[in-house]
Amino acid sequence: MNEASMFSGIFWHNSPVVIVTSRFDGKINGQVAVTVVTSSLVPSKPRLILGIWKKNYTQQFIKKSKVLNLHLLKKDQIDLVKNFGFYTGREKDKFENITFSDGQNGCPIIKGVHSYAECRVLNAMDGGDMTVFLLDVVHGNVLSGGGWMTLNDFYSTAPQEWIEQYSEKVGESIEYSLPIIDKISHEPFEP
Ligand SMILES: Cc1cc2nc3c(=O)[nH]c(=O)nc-3n(C[C@H](O)[C@H](O)[C@H](O)COP(=O)(O)O)c2cc1C
Repeated sequence: MNEASMFSGIFWHNSPVVIVTSRFDGKINGQVAVTVVTSSLVPSKPRLILGIWKKNYTQQFIKKSKVLNLHLLKKDQIDLVKNFGFYTGREKDKFENITFSDGQNGCPIIKGVHSYAECRVLNAMDGGDMTVFLLDVVHGNVLSGGGWMTLNDFYSTAPQEWIEQYSEKVGESIEYSLPIIDKISHEPFEP
């Protein structure tokens, strides 16, 4: 691993683990992401930036509907990470055993999480193998007083078998990314 990769790796491990849900054309889906960062200094205009890989089914929902909900998890909610982060919604109904309600934007709000926010997409930038979304945080709620899960928390609590499964999945994602990561479109995003 080179120094550049080691440096950017630091950002992975301390990042909050987030579940992103969306709705499009009567269907719902969701996935795990660790690529959310803050982007607005103005308290009356809360904004976040989210990175989503193009391979993911959820990416299509977000691009088409331009609405999504973000959820921070309690530290012990690793089952939710497996449910939303290990499988694709193309092959599995991830909400089958999940209690949720519909947000004002129609996207699912998962019950019992640390906190959630309803967001809409203000703009987007192509990143070759992924898309960077600028989000307007329209509405949100902190439901739990405790801490939220980071990627480090996930790695230190998940069973070894899950870590191996996840590593295999990351390997497949890298194979998917390699041929397209430098094919960045500079066409503007149409909201
Ligand atoms: C711990 C963890 C972190 C992840 N981080 C990201 C991420 O930051 N961005 C992303 O697009 N996918 C990330 N993923 C992968 C997606 O959650 C995963 O590929 C999911 O199966 C996609 O589901 P979908 O095809 O239904 O959208 C992560 C998965 C896990 C388990």
